[in-house]
Amino acid sequence: MTALASVRRLTKDDVARYRALRLRAFQESASSFSESFEDEVNQPIEYFQRVMMMRCDDGDGDGDGDGNNDSQEHFTLGAFATAMAAASHPPVSTAVSLSAPVAGRVPGSVAGSGSGSQEDEPVLIGIATFKRDGRSKARHKGYIHTMFVAPEHRGCGIGQSILRQLIEQARSLDGLEQMHLWVLQPHTSAARRMYERVGFVMQGTVVCRDLKIGGVYVDAAYMSLGFS
Ligand SMILES: CC(C)(COP(=O)(O)OP(=O)(O)OC[C@H]1O[C@@H](n2cnc3c(N)ncnc32)[C@H](O)[C@@H]1OP(=O)(O)O)[C@@H](O)C(=O)NCCC(=O)NCCS
Repeated sequence: MTALASVRRLTKDDVARYRALRLRAFQESASSFSESFEDEVNQPIEYFQRVMMMRCDDGDGDGDGDGNNDSQEHFTLGAFATAMAAASHPPVSTAVSLSAPVAGRVPGSVAGSGSGSQEDEPVLIGIATFKRDGRSKARHKGYIHTMFVAPEHRGCGIGQSILRQLIEQARSLDGLEQMHLWVLQPHTSAARRMYERVGFVMQGTVVCRDLKIGGVYVDAAYMSLGFS
């Protein structure tokens, strides 16, 4: 059983461990995400900082690039385990190599599952990102992206804990009424069951053959949660 030390917003100081866990997610759970390891592994560290803060310069007014996770409307939550708990659940494989050249790599970059640079530092074992819709006609909606818990820490309630805190924080935003997400492999995924546990419901029918991952078609489903 993993001892969850904390769930908190990630900041620019977390970007190296965020990068490692994000790449691990895309490599080890490829059929759960539309993004891919191959597309991101050679991206500079600034790219990961932007996606962690959801600060894509998409004209929604938040692309200030100041590196502070101070936005109430776009943030990534990270779950941390004590180093001791993480050590007792070593990764099944060190899937993510950070040896690939990374422009602008930050000091303190870590390999593997995102272990802390200090032995007693909590270890990042789970992530989820929230982004509010920036368009004036859709500001009542927010989206969940890139939810992942390291395989060796699953089944201990960590995913649900991140999700509940993310919902609680999003819920406090003025005018936010709904949360939305896409889930892949909706017939079999643990993710769908986790989302249903916290109140998400499927909208419409399953989109068949939405993605083709390693030559295999993957279905997708849209889920939402209304705050009423
Ligand atoms: C989905 C994921 C985040 C769940 O993380 P987790 O920490 O194992 O989840 P929890 O332990 O909090 O479980 C939450 C609920 O999900 C369901 N669940 C989780 N894992 C399950 C499994 N292997 N089989 C069946 N149900 C499962 C259960 O209903 C559970 O609630 P319960 O314990 O009250 O029964 C994790 O499996 C993961 O990272 N999967 C790969 C990436 C992914 O699919 N991301 C979602 C993209 S949309």
